[in-house]
Amino acid sequence: MTLTRRVISGMAVSGAIKLLSLSSHVTSMHRSSAILYRQMSTEAQNVATRLKSSGLLRSQALIAGKWTEAYDKKVIEVTNPATGDVVANVPCMGVRETNDAISAAHEAFSTWSKTTAAERSKCLRKWYDLLIANKEELGQLITLEQGKPLKEAIGEVSYGAAFIEFFSEEAKRVYGEIIPTPLSDRRLFVLKQPVGVVGVITPWNFPLAMITRKVGPALASGCTVVIKPSELTPLTALAAAELSIQAGIPPGAVNVVMGNATEIGDALLASSEVRKITFTGSTAVGKKLMAGAANTVKRVSLELGGNAPCIIFDDADLDVAVKGALGSKFRNSGQTCVCANRILVQEGIYEEFASAFSNAVQNLQVGDGFADGIVQGPLINEAGLQKVETFVQDAISKGAKVLIGGRRHRLGMTFYEPTVMTNIKSEMLLSREEIFGPVAPLHPFRTEDEAIRLANDTNAGLAAYIFTTNIQRSWRVSEALEYGIVGVNEGLVSTEVAPFGGFKQSGIGREGSKYGIDEYIEVKYVCLGNMQS
Ligand code: SIN
Repeated sequence: MTLTRRVISGMAVSGAIKLLSLSSHVTSMHRSSAILYRQMSTEAQNVATRLKSSGLLRSQALIAGKWTEAYDKKVIEVTNPATGDVVANVPCMGVRETNDAISAAHEAFSTWSKTTAAERSKCLRKWYDLLIANKEELGQLITLEQGKPLKEAIGEVSYGAAFIEFFSEEAKRVYGEIIPTPLSDRRLFVLKQPVGVVGVITPWNFPLAMITRKVGPALASGCTVVIKPSELTPLTALAAAELSIQAGIPPGAVNVVMGNATEIGDALLASSEVRKITFTGSTAVGKKLMAGAANTVKRVSLELGGNAPCIIFDDADLDVAVKGALGSKFRNSGQTCVCANRILVQEGIYEEFASAFSNAVQNLQVGDGFADGIVQGPLINEAGLQKVETFVQDAISKGAKVLIGGRRHRLGMTFYEPTVMTNIKSEMLLSREEIFGPVAPLHPFRTEDEAIRLANDTNAGLAAYIFTTNIQRSWRVSEALEYGIVGVNEGLVSTEVAPFGGFKQSGIGREGSKYGIDEYIEVKYVCLGNMQS
């Protein structure tokens, strides 16, 4: 994910919410598109003004419970991807501020880790209540800085808040153990203790949920955190942090810094006070973090890229398969790690599926996420759009055919037409790598064995989907797929109660569910000797 936001050096505007009319991006656009944007950006600007007065549009970092500027006053512009408007300027921080945040988290750990599980649970429950009470506002903030349609953004708030609720409950269920002793004069125990300060590095595609999925279990177990949200979507993180303060989570337990990703990442890795790094993002960055964590032997949890196969068997219910593939592929305009990346369709149902699926894709409404009826927002930035274009061109040059879409949307900016492609081959980029855009490549296959072989022919192993009405096949194929998550006759499988994570190069560890909290816990063995009576 490329950082394309502009950094403004030494400007005294840091912290000020600047609502500019139209960026240079937009003024250089085609005249008719520019008129459309002017109309679209009005709603976005109204939203920004309302959010500002609600106190949820924060534009400073949070360190030790204080809203803070960068030492050198550098800022980064946060823009609305649907319009190019600058929504806010946030501090562009680096090593010094990150070290301050680490010290704050370290100090807070000494008290937070000693609170009772019931106390932590209460704080988290309060935070959950506040997230839900501000669901609309947080959803608007997500649409404003990330672009996803408002309904989907509000859905993300419910999804994201659910991790806080779940781990507020799970906080009370971190049990130790008594081990049957092999020697009569000894008593053997297992204590579960928090890992310590956690560096939390999150992506732009789910500005809230990727934070709460990590911070929920971290705080529940007694850890404290330094969050580095994506520079593209820091405002939701700051609003969530504001609500954490209102919930009574003590100063320093939650810190948020943003800016120079390399400097912040390196500072988190270098510090021996940071005992764990948890990251969601690209496999390339995940590998670097894993290598960097080796120096201080930090624990890592990595939720990395996917290349999800979605297998439609001849015996699938067509409507269920179309709905499932559509939901999985086009959620967040194709910008999730679990989006169907390769739609493998068995020969007997191929034509029928391609036709029904294309009809459904044709009806997806593209536009500004604040407009009514929109289900596909813009891509996050120009780099994301160019990547999609490169993949589509590569496929066309190798013989793929575009059934529908296949180009930038007439709305301009970073909108891309929902696309369906056929004649796909394994050597094409869109078969090998994560597309992260609204492009659905259809691959035909003949047998179940071939489908499993094609599905597993990748270094990724996050999510896979199968559509079949044969119960034996659904079980057999689920077992054969080298993936951490399998959806059977369902394209939307993410939930706070089930483990989320990948096999192979899709990552290490699991988030959500009862397994999620283990990632933030050290297991300590205590042996009591001389216990003979
Ligand atoms: C992701 O894209 O990394 C997360 C998707 C999800 O939580 O469903």
